[in-house]
Amino acid sequence: MPVKAVVGMQWGDEGKGKIVDVLSAEADLVVRAAGGSNAGHTIIRGGKKTVLHLVPSGILHEYSRCLLGAGMVIEPARLREELDVLEQFGTPRVRTRVGVDPQAMLILPWHKAIEHVREARPDALGTTLRGIGPAYESRASRLGIPLALLAHPELLKTALEALHLDYLPIFELGKEPVISPSDLFAELMQVADWLVPMFTDVSLETARAMSEGRIVLLEGAQGVMLDSLHGTYPFVTSSSTIFGGLLSGIGLGNGMVSDVVGVCKAYTTRVGNGPFPTELEDETGKHLAAFGGEYGATTGRLRRCGWLDAVALKKAVRLVGCSQLALTKVDVLCDLPEIKVAVAYEDADGTVLADFPCDPYRAAQLKPVYRTFAPWRTPSDDAVLPEELQEYISFLEGFTATRVSLVSWGPDRSQTLVREAGGACRSLNS
Ligand code: IMP
Ligand code: MG
Repeated sequence: MPVKAVVGMQWGDEGKGKIVDVLSAEADLVVRAAGGSNAGHTIIRGGKKTVLHLVPSGILHEYSRCLLGAGMVIEPARLREELDVLEQFGTPRVRTRVGVDPQAMLILPWHKAIEHVREARPDALGTTLRGIGPAYESRASRLGIPLALLAHPELLKTALEALHLDYLPIFELGKEPVISPSDLFAELMQVADWLVPMFTDVSLETARAMSEGRIVLLEGAQGVMLDSLHGTYPFVTSSSTIFGGLLSGIGLGNGMVSDVVGVCKAYTTRVGNGPFPTELEDETGKHLAAFGGEYGATTGRLRRCGWLDAVALKKAVRLVGCSQLALTKVDVLCDLPEIKVAVAYEDADGTVLADFPCDPYRAAQLKPVYRTFAPWRTPSDDAVLPEELQEYISFLEGFTATRVSLVSWGPDRSQTLVREAGGACRSLNS
């Protein structure tokens, strides 16, 4: 059975939640690899909206098991809240269908406290304030608290004291009191009661499912341009969001994934600060935000909007090595008089660049060179793409040397066209 992976190709919010939902309809296993509740995957089915931050989107399919991999950072209260909401929605057997790798890291109130102090400064990055960055810092410093310690109370106590000691000089500078190691220990012992039974070796369980021929879907979070190493540093998240990050976050080797689907919105958005060459600060940008409903699913912040950046997309395709693209939200561009796509950049001194610069500071000074496309009407489920949209897609396929295999024209599952290699389309349900 093919093992598929879904990766975001821009700065997040490409519509991965919906694409994972579409692709996981028959999946036995859906696995997340990295990040935490900074992600917000919105799924709309039959008019009902669910936003998931931690649990893979496959949870809405009754028979899928959903795993949170070792590369993740998890705030227990958020996970608990999400499980409770899913249960209230009538999702069956949530507690037994969700598994968590004990090597994943805990996000503690201390991590959030530190991030709040940093983000109040003028050089703020515009993070989601979920404690993601500081939790990864703790992991890198070897002072992090893996979930595994919830099953070892004495070791947990010592580890909390060590981390607290390390943070003390920073906490003493701040005005707000932070929770003491002993109070935090008591809180975490209550978490242990419900979280420890969910422990599983995600790497082993995933590899086993693959070798048994089960249908497995690997669910990426955020987007390639937010990758901690290859994104627009320092305006990035603190985990690896490229395809390689999926493998390392879960603990998988080479050659196990047959299809990598890169999800790309027909325009671009970005939340938080950082370079964004095709950003539109005019009426068109406002139109995209309004018609695209571009408010953060996690923080409620208005997203910055702009034209599709095919140069950045080409870089993303290279970093991910995706075999196909899913193009989302094509309906949002419908009412515009013309549609633009960045196909190159011009530097401050007039030099034309064909590729996204690997110097992220240079990226902040670029002017896009656009190619203009004719607008299209909204596709419908009659399985025929408007000619103008077909042209736009053909261009992207040529520019990125990657096939566009899915076209999404609305939030519902039914608003999805499957595009075959020759360009013929069928609606998802046929
Ligand atoms: P952090 O991941 O909270 O540290 O935030 C770092 C940057 O990544 C900020 O610009 C966030 O807005 C952005 N970011 C993190 N997760 C997501 C996401 O799921 N969608 C969009 N942007 C995100
Ligand atoms: Mg999102």
